[in-house]
Amino acid sequence: MSDMEMYRNAADFISSRINEWPQIAIVLGSGLGPLANEVQQPVEIDYADIPGFPETTVMGHAGKLIYGMLGGKRVLAMKGRFHYYEGHDISKVVFHIRVFKLLGISNLLVTNAAGGINTSFRPGDLMLITDHISFFAPSPLRGKNLDEFGPRFPDMCNAYDPELIEMAAEVGKKRGLSLRKGIYAFTQGPMFETPAEIRALRIMGADAVGMSTVPEVITARHCGIRVLGISCITNMAAGILRQKLDHTEVIDTAKKVEKDFTGLVKDILKQWKL
Ligand code: HPA
Repeated sequence: MSDMEMYRNAADFISSRINEWPQIAIVLGSGLGPLANEVQQPVEIDYADIPGFPETTVMGHAGKLIYGMLGGKRVLAMKGRFHYYEGHDISKVVFHIRVFKLLGISNLLVTNAAGGINTSFRPGDLMLITDHISFFAPSPLRGKNLDEFGPRFPDMCNAYDPELIEMAAEVGKKRGLSLRKGIYAFTQGPMFETPAEIRALRIMGADAVGMSTVPEVITARHCGIRVLGISCITNMAAGILRQKLDHTEVIDTAKKVEKDFTGLVKDILKQWKL
């Protein structure tokens, strides 16, 4: 079966389970899955049932697509994503993005848990991603280009839509949240970074670091999907506040900001012009 047929099979399966076309896809990061509980009239689809979908294996990541209404929009939310460190081929890590495209989706909200590199950040801060650094993993576009999706050498300027960033910043202000803006650096994981790596990433211009999102954003931009990215700074990166990092800190902080995050996302969806 060709790659294109695999994407189409998955898209056909999903569209057979939902009645209308989704308007915005949402990828929920570690510990941020509870947002999916807010989706009204939900239709849940297990990844295991979708042809070609990889399995998720991480604590804090479920493995369901949830379709329904949120913030007045028809959304397709991914509770649990695929990470490179799980051992998937990089093309599998972004499989869902191309399926979204075939479902007619041209707007994507990606979220993640991230370590804060910028020393003015604090755990619990929410950061609008303005750009990314991704030198440390293969490109998800590696291999034969699928011209149906986009060009061989796609532009990555304004990968994070400037209008959406400004809209989200306004929404944050109205909600009384002091949202950060910053650059997200992608690392392969699954180990947290060393303090020396964090110092190096800071010199390169990164404000936050994480093990997801960037391959998805590259794939989305390749096929012309607009992207808004939000990081939840769940911990300060290695060597800043303490010498030991632990995934439970990531989940605990994400839980603490759940209310702020959920309210923010709902209002962002309300203001999102399609
Ligand atoms: N590093 C990488 N990924 C992360 C971190 C971190 O400190 N926190 C949450 N995801």
